[in-house]
Amino acid sequence: MHFPSLALLAGSALLASAASLQQVTEAFGPNPRNVGFYIYVPDQLAARPPILVNPHWCHGDARACYAGSQYAALASRHGFIVIYPDSPNGADKCWDVSSDATLAHGAGGDSLGIVSMVRWALDRYGGDPARVFVTGVSSGAMMTSTLVGAYPDVFAAGSAFSGVPFGCFAGDGYAVWSGACATGQISHTPAEWAAIVRAAYPAYENATTTTTTTRKWRPKMQIFHGTNDEVLNYNVFKEEVKQWTAVFGYDGQHPTVTTPDTPVANWTKYVYGPSDWFEAYSAGGVTHNIQNQEATVMDWFDLACTSGDCFRWGKGGP
Ligand SMILES: *[C@@H]1O[C@H](CO)[C@@H](O)[C@H](O)[C@H]1NC(C)=O
Ligand SMILES: *[C@@H]1O[C@H](CO)[C@@H](O)[C@H](O)[C@H]1NC(C)=O
Repeated sequence: MHFPSLALLAGSALLASAASLQQVTEAFGPNPRNVGFYIYVPDQLAARPPILVNPHWCHGDARACYAGSQYAALASRHGFIVIYPDSPNGADKCWDVSSDATLAHGAGGDSLGIVSMVRWALDRYGGDPARVFVTGVSSGAMMTSTLVGAYPDVFAAGSAFSGVPFGCFAGDGYAVWSGACATGQISHTPAEWAAIVRAAYPAYENATTTTTTTRKWRPKMQIFHGTNDEVLNYNVFKEEVKQWTAVFGYDGQHPTVTTPDTPVANWTKYVYGPSDWFEAYSAGGVTHNIQNQEATVMDWFDLACTSGDCFRWGKGGP
């Protein structure tokens, strides 16, 4: 007689312990734009878990982003946390990557709300502040560049699929679409692009002490772009290469290593500079609808590492 109810209990206990996407509705810090906060915390967390932020694309949302990649499954396997922010921009769900506030350290915009989520999660789960990463596709890639550029003290590395340079979308108001940037009409010298990044947080490199909050070195950056991108012209990829190589002080004209057919046939991997700090993948024949490359991104962030000297890059920059 008791058997069915026991089975039922066991079943519900199992359900209760299986991790799923959760919305955080409590206050979590400054969030002037009311960005939605969704998080995936696996049942078995690594000690001092790393945090991966995964902003969605335009017309997407946190749930679609959660369902649309392997990151939650990988988080369960390796014990890291994934934050899926949700754009407050109801019109097209594109991120605010253009406002003065979002492009400046601590000033507001969508970027500040996302950084508040990171700080809350680090505190709540005892996360590793030296291993906070961000990756996204399209508008999510633009937000990746925005966060890496404006919050180099928070993010250790970024990985952007089909995005634009930091500050390429810029203008009055929040989440403004820049046709000029998208069609590849905006061009700057490497020094100009780097100055735009540095202006986001002018005091950063000049900080007199190095702590986890003022560590001086710049996050590693990895970018991917399709040669046939019909939404964000391939020219923006070249501008991105100029920007990040200049930020690191690398020669942006001559890759140090060129590897064909990596990680996909007809994609070419270019490494710039001496220290494995910036790499760019030109995806031959690929449109804006680029495939996520979770394995390559996991490697870049060293996210499969759960013990020992994980993310050795995070020790002091190039
Ligand atoms: C940071 O230091 C550099 C080099 O000394 C200097 O040119 C720049 O003006 C300084 N920036 C700020 C915001 O202090
Ligand atoms: C390979 O990439 C080149 C551009 O680099 C493109 O023109 C060509 O169509 C691509 N081939 C395939 C099979 O996608």
